[in-house]
Amino acid sequence: MREEWGSRAGFILATIGAAVGLGNIWRFAYIAGENGGAVFLFVYLLFVALIGLPLVIAELALGRRGASDAVAAFAASAAGSLWRHAGWIGVVAAVAILSYYAVVAGWALRYFAGALTGALWREAGAGYGAFFEGFIAGSAEPMLYQAVMLALAALVVAAGVKGGIERINLWIMPLLAAIVCGLAIHALLLPGSARGVGFLFTPDWSALGRPALYLNALGQAFFSLGVGMAVFVTYGGYLGSQTGIPRSAATVVIGDTAFALVAGLAVFPAVFALGGDPAAGPRLAFITFPQILLDMPAGRIVGTVFFLLLSAAALTSMISLLEVAVAVLVARTGWSRPRATAIVAAALFLLGMPSALGYGTLRGWTLAGQPLLDAIDHLVSNFLLPLSGLCIALFVGWRLRAAEAVSAADLAGSAVAPAWLWLLRIGAPLTILVILLRSAGLF
Ligand code: TRP
Repeated sequence: MREEWGSRAGFILATIGAAVGLGNIWRFAYIAGENGGAVFLFVYLLFVALIGLPLVIAELALGRRGASDAVAAFAASAAGSLWRHAGWIGVVAAVAILSYYAVVAGWALRYFAGALTGALWREAGAGYGAFFEGFIAGSAEPMLYQAVMLALAALVVAAGVKGGIERINLWIMPLLAAIVCGLAIHALLLPGSARGVGFLFTPDWSALGRPALYLNALGQAFFSLGVGMAVFVTYGGYLGSQTGIPRSAATVVIGDTAFALVAGLAVFPAVFALGGDPAAGPRLAFITFPQILLDMPAGRIVGTVFFLLLSAAALTSMISLLEVAVAVLVARTGWSRPRATAIVAAALFLLGMPSALGYGTLRGWTLAGQPLLDAIDHLVSNFLLPLSGLCIALFVGWRLRAAEAVSAADLAGSAVAPAWLWLLRIGAPLTILVILLRSAGLF
């Protein structure tokens, strides 16, 4: 029998758990930092509302309609046309993301473990720059933590949709919400925190002229929401007809955005209060931030809780990405869920090795002048995810009959149905295409 979510709350929390991850804390903070803060936020929110939300609705609708894995959900609605293969794009993208995502999640776990034992605070004699570089330049350690994170995600996925994925999210997600709010309140109470808040909320409109801003905001919107990788198609496949899709999608999108904002409020006031550089890049969470914690009242407690937050948020997202591939494999091979999960997780460990070793043993291997992990992240987030989102928009917007699409999304008779449909048909595809072509330097 097909698995289903046990409750609406379970489905919503699991889906927010997929959306909230490294993207909201590690990636949001440094991308916003590098792209000017408040102006970035403005463009980001626009993309989330006008492209992200319609796509989340479309993915969930497609998934529930197919009541199967991501590949079959497309194939069911597109027999005989090339479209029937479109689901694979998302599966490939999910595997590509998970390969390096597990490595960064491993860094978070390493920091959490170090903070718990207290070693993290002693080891930083020469500063966290040297500490972090030394850690990721190793080979055994980064791979060990990458493997532990993959194993944890695999244990949950192997236990099933209701018994594993739903169960763990039901208790992790409320905990994460409490932690991130607590961290933000603590940061806001620091003297000098106002500059960090200003950085996030006082726009410098002149930055709107920079094309890179739009590509980065679009990539971040896709990454943070988790669209374009068949996660919502897969999770929608376990959804019964009683749960309304537009409201669920809005809850997930608002939850994800709120989480990124509150996480930003936990990071930037501290960065500014203690004179850090908000544009420190991917290292912001692992170098700048812990450095700040050392000098902060209760910094060690804050740090321990912060890296617990980062690891746990990463875990629930890894679970969703893993489930995409496992669902496809189970459906195509008839293998048991635990067996398929073990095989996918082992394959992902191997696939992620180049990313894990890219700062050490494989330092000589670069792509476009960047370490492998950074380059893959940039390629997948800024190009593959938007392309895959484009396909979903076109598929649901044009390939399905309008009445079918609207009713699959529970929007029949609703006043927003035409807006949703035309955003999928024209608005989202055109915006995505213009940004992609512009970034490829075509005009
Ligand atoms: N959204 C997650 C984050 O913010 C990462 C993630 C999970 C994801 N599932 C995804 C990204 C699907 C893209 C597509 O960290």
